[in-house]
Amino acid sequence: MKKPKRPPPPLCRKLVKLDVVSSTNDVARQLAEAGWPEGTVVVAAEQTAGRGRFGRRWESPRGGLWFSVLLRPALGPEDISRLPIVAGLAVARALRSSFGLEIELKWPNDVLIEGKKICGILVETSFTGSKLDFVILGIGINANFEPHELSEPISSCSTTLRAELGHDVDLEALLFSVLRELSACYDALLSGRGEELLREAEELMGFPRMARVLSGGRELVGLAIGLADDGSLLVKSEDGRVEKVAWWEATVIELGS
Ligand code: BTN
Repeated sequence: MKKPKRPPPPLCRKLVKLDVVSSTNDVARQLAEAGWPEGTVVVAAEQTAGRGRFGRRWESPRGGLWFSVLLRPALGPEDISRLPIVAGLAVARALRSSFGLEIELKWPNDVLIEGKKICGILVETSFTGSKLDFVILGIGINANFEPHELSEPISSCSTTLRAELGHDVDLEALLFSVLRELSACYDALLSGRGEELLREAEELMGFPRMARVLSGGRELVGLAIGLADDGSLLVKSEDGRVEKVAWWEATVIELGS
């Protein structure tokens, strides 16, 4: 008997499938500027200029799942700043439910398996004055290739689904699984349940743990103790002061256990 087709997730109103692009975030931005709706998804087989956080290069060989989702969120500033954490949580949920993998999150939104990165997320925004026009969530999952296909030093701190599972996965099924989880999380944010999501993400971040954080050219060493209501990292320094570190200005160099 033919399996009944599942309806597409709400955050997949328009699906644009491409072969080789510079960056799916760039294509999604062009579509956003041309007025495409929330839930436009751009997926590519390969990126020639994939971007990571802080302008770093993101290697995107064939076999990975590289995609961007356009959002036009009617959210307050606190929920908007929760979006990067929530996106990481959605990927973690999808990898767990699709493959039974044990997933960790590294603040703000790296997705790891046994300390190695399997997914990175780049959140880009566009404002007119103080009004948010749109958000692009760019998600890259290392899937059907070997970690050694990435260059050093990235390759030794990354893993792939093929390396973890011993086989390749169906990229389209994975895309839909992530988009379903993302839709559920987004819906929870819109209906005022953002705090629950932060608490779930915190669980996967394994606090408290030692952290070395670079924030606005400053290095901060201390005990990462959890997340503030807007998704900032709370770091307690030796003198007992607790500092809030915002995701858009900080990168975590080390997270001890
Ligand atoms: C990071 O960990 O620094 C973020 C990596 C984000 C990579 C994804 S792949 C799809 C989308 N297009 C890009 O150019 N970047 C994001």
